[in-house]
Amino acid sequence: MKAKVIENRRLSEKDFLLSVNLPELPEIKPGQFAMIQVRKTGQLDPLLRRPLGIFDVEGNSVSFIYRIAGRGTRLLSKEQEEIDVILPLGNHIEETAEKYLFIAGGIGIGGLFLAAKQFHLKGKNVTIVYGGKSREDLSAMPFIKKYGIPCITVTEDGSEGKKGLVTDVLQDFKETTWVACGPSGMLKAVKEKAKLMNVECYLSLDTRMACGVGSCLGCVIKTAEGYKRVCVDGPVFKSDFVEL
Ligand code: FES
Repeated sequence: MKAKVIENRRLSEKDFLLSVNLPELPEIKPGQFAMIQVRKTGQLDPLLRRPLGIFDVEGNSVSFIYRIAGRGTRLLSKEQEEIDVILPLGNHIEETAEKYLFIAGGIGIGGLFLAAKQFHLKGKNVTIVYGGKSREDLSAMPFIKKYGIPCITVTEDGSEGKKGLVTDVLQDFKETTWVACGPSGMLKAVKEKAKLMNVECYLSLDTRMACGVGSCLGCVIKTAEGYKRVCVDGPVFKSDFVEL
């Protein structure tokens, strides 16, 4: 569907916030994603859409955080009035626990923020662990602060919060459901830690996608039950179910 661009602004050196307005908003659950057409109307290139986690929903507007990583995302950051989006896609983060720890690596926050915000506003016990190489990677901090969501920041160079890795601060969150989204190295480390601590843990996977709706098999991953498609069986999986 066509969405009107409300803003497409730089949050840090590489990260942008894209907000769009939709005439009719379908029900969106936290953890779902959208397939965004990055080419301009009337052009054919690049052909493939980009998957982006639905960062926030307010009234009839939906926002996404993305990082400039190549030609597609660079094109997306250019001024445009209208954008073609398919949403909502994928499964979602279940609201079954009372205590949640959301572990975000860089723009992995894009797949987790909506759940953290909604669960926090409902009175659940929510903490975010937000990590990156440096302060530049924590571009969603103003949104976390806006809603007063408890947050522990960790950076590899110590430019913001604790110096180290997100896995350095997880030992204090034992009887808590973890949900992580970020680079694969981080997800592997979180999965290991969850297993060691016997904690319920979910991973929101960010894989390359072509169709986003289950037909191209471009996003398959190995799981305990054979190959699964991240776009329709995920993106949220129990950590001990997936092979990373
Ligand atoms: S992206 Fe096509 S099947 Fe998942």
